[in-house]
Amino acid sequence: MIVNGYSYKNIKKAANFLKKGEPIAFPTETVYGLGANIYNKKSVAKIFEIKQRPFFDPLIVHIANLKQLEEVAKIEDERIYLLAKHFWPGPLTLILPKQKRISYLITAGLETVAIRMPSNIIALSLIQELNSPIAAPSANLFTHLSPTTAQHVLKQLGNKTKLILDGGKTTCGVESTILSIEKNKKPVVLRMGGLPIENIEKIIGKIIIPTKKSRKVLAPGNLKNHYAPQKPLIIINNEKEIPKYLKNNKQKIGYLAFQKINNKKILSDYKILSSQGDFKEAASNFFDYLHQLDDGPAEIILAEKIKEVNLGKAMMERLIKAAHR
Ligand code: TXA
Ligand code: MG
Repeated sequence: MIVNGYSYKNIKKAANFLKKGEPIAFPTETVYGLGANIYNKKSVAKIFEIKQRPFFDPLIVHIANLKQLEEVAKIEDERIYLLAKHFWPGPLTLILPKQKRISYLITAGLETVAIRMPSNIIALSLIQELNSPIAAPSANLFTHLSPTTAQHVLKQLGNKTKLILDGGKTTCGVESTILSIEKNKKPVVLRMGGLPIENIEKIIGKIIIPTKKSRKVLAPGNLKNHYAPQKPLIIINNEKEIPKYLKNNKQKIGYLAFQKINNKKILSDYKILSSQGDFKEAASNFFDYLHQLDDGPAEIILAEKIKEVNLGKAMMERLIKAAHR
């Protein structure tokens, strides 16, 4: 059931479900999450069951304050506070050594835990009301497109979750950037996301960006077929390549463009990420438009290559995965 997430009554209701061990869905600034109380193992296990997610894929712990940061992770490096100061609350997840109290179910057996403080008043209120951090993956079925509206969550999870707090369309639109910080070592990016690498480097200096191959091993969730629509998706360089896929006008094409489309007539469906060419706007529309193209009349989705700077890196990473099927 979708309910208004801005109502305190509903936040209390959601917190009560969490206290009883029932996972619920809530908005963050990136994508919607499916949350459970981190100290209730059964409830955390239910998340994997609902999402059909393998147990080797660890969850992100969402916190509302710095006390909770130290409750879940060991802080052995001053850079962590610096990052928190500049980027929290916000779309940055840190991989840090875990405290004993964090179960291996959450970390998939790893000694590290993923933590972030979301920049969304509903998410923060929910964590405060529960008075405990919340473990939450994105609220989609495993390998499917991430949800950026309450309706996307309902479409995929149906009544498998008792409650969906509606906070409208998420503002950031792509998942958080994941950064691993180890004492005396250069930080390593495990997932490109809502916080551009360029912004992070301004604060803590050079970051290691492993090849896509090694990133997959570092973050167990970086599987190739993540974020996939149900329809085939092909990445093309530009609009000029569209006619190749028309197959004598028989194939219905949906097109995801970055800024503009010259010839809309040959398309059955299309979406323009940002007519202003603004990366932030484009990222906030990204998953929503893929959902819409997936639900629309097209038979295949062609997506235009996005320039790999700023949030363009996060979007391209997701397009490549969506195209893998
Ligand atoms: O923006 C986000 O991060 C959203 C919202 C809900 O916060 N959450 C999200 O969660 O994207 P999820 O579960 O879809 O992706 C979490 C990723 C996975 O790829 C997982 O493998 C990785 O984080 N991860 C979690 N804990 C880790 C750890 N200890 N070491 C390395 N990677 C980890
Ligand atoms: Mg996910």
